[in-house]
Amino acid sequence: MKEISIGLLGLGTVGSGVVKIIENHQDKLMHQVGCPVKVKKVLVRDIKKYSENGFQASLLTTDVDEILNDPEIDIIVEVMGGIEQTREYLLQAFHNKKHVVTANKDLMALHGGELLKTASENNCDLFFEASVAGGIPILRSITEGLSSDKIVNIMGIVNGTTNFILTKMSQNGAAYEEVLKQAQELGFAEADPTSDVEGLDAARKMVILATLGFSMEVNLEDVSVQGITGVTEEDIQYGKQLGYTMKLIGIAKLDGDKVEVSVQPTFLADTHPLASVQNEYNAVYVCGEAVGETMFYGPGAGSLPTATSIVADLVAVMKNIRSGVNGISNIAPQYPKQLKTADEMFSKYFLRLHVADEAGVFAKITSLFAEHGISFEKILQLPVVKREVAEIVLVTHHASKQAYEDVLVQLNDLSSVKQIKSSYRVERGSIQ
Ligand code: NAP
Ligand code: HSE
Repeated sequence: MKEISIGLLGLGTVGSGVVKIIENHQDKLMHQVGCPVKVKKVLVRDIKKYSENGFQASLLTTDVDEILNDPEIDIIVEVMGGIEQTREYLLQAFHNKKHVVTANKDLMALHGGELLKTASENNCDLFFEASVAGGIPILRSITEGLSSDKIVNIMGIVNGTTNFILTKMSQNGAAYEEVLKQAQELGFAEADPTSDVEGLDAARKMVILATLGFSMEVNLEDVSVQGITGVTEEDIQYGKQLGYTMKLIGIAKLDGDKVEVSVQPTFLADTHPLASVQNEYNAVYVCGEAVGETMFYGPGAGSLPTATSIVADLVAVMKNIRSGVNGISNIAPQYPKQLKTADEMFSKYFLRLHVADEAGVFAKITSLFAEHGISFEKILQLPVVKREVAEIVLVTHHASKQAYEDVLVQLNDLSSVKQIKSSYRVERGSIQ
């Protein structure tokens, strides 16, 4: 086979890692794919910035057509980010019969279906292993390793920034703003960290995981999303007293033919396999009917870990080129999507209330829960927080989302309930 030429869109954190791995692993690549692999051209916005940093200027361009229209370039590696313009570039790449490897979860969560279809129509591969959980080979584990099983539950810590923040808040009692700044300095956070802390980055990754795991086209608007900006140090400490660890968890569950996908700050029982995942690390817990519980752990971001997944995708494309089977592994979802309604989603809940410190209040609250068929697993008695205000922490047994939300509305209407301080989903320690 002739030399394989790669066109790189972007030379930032991930792009520079891809260049390094291709350079450093030439022998291994040659052995795996049977020909030399080289980066022929790289798209950037500012050539001077990169050439001053030691990158060969003749390889750089600011004109994307020099890559998309170069007949010698076989594979495009897209690591520039962005959505609309990037989508246009990739569609043009497929029409020009170029295979694509991307790390872009934002693009894949929004336009993955269209891009995969266009790739297949043009006999091109589109691989995106690096788009979820950086260096963890989770997409290939789901689509290949577990392909013989029926996956029923995927839970993930898929955002490194929020895991870093929650770990530091939990371990050192560090202030939210201070740890977020640290995560930005360490390079885990997105340029605008809103999508990290508000849960959107994790939601996009869960769209990709659920679509592949359940073989149905899950969209971003199907995911209920809540970030970590409302999580307080107090909540984390109360959770600890009850044997829970606070994590931002993406949850995708399949019951029968129906699916639910959500991202929210969650109290995990300390015995849950995800509870011990610390700092910026990611992990994805996958349950299949046959295999039972599995967990995949590793770095969810960073230059070389993410580039490792990209170069593994490149190897897969190159092997497909050699076998002449490009475009056939982009399998379209098999099942129609059916979403669960709120009365079909069950979970335990943690609730912290400030109530009037007077006789009969607790009875009123418990009877409201009882009217909706919800009982309690744990109740924490706390000293009066300030004059005439007492604090109650409750953990429910499994309840439907609908019943729990109805109770919250009615609690708000009780004059003796001064404030609903916080409410979180609770997940226990093993397969549900
Ligand atoms: P980055 O460091 O900001 O790098 C982006 C690169 O793309 C820069 O070289 C930039 O060039 C170039 N670029 C951006 N827009 C461009 C445009 N319109 N035209 C030409 N060049 C453009 O980003 P990154 O962290 O490497 O992330 C890249 C992608 O990987 C994103 O989709 C991200 O979500 C995904 N990802 C990142 C990580 C991670 O750990 N960083 C992990 C998993 C996935 P200039 O510098 O000249 O502007
Ligand atoms: N900002 C992302 C994170 C980068 O913190 O996980 C990897 O997608």
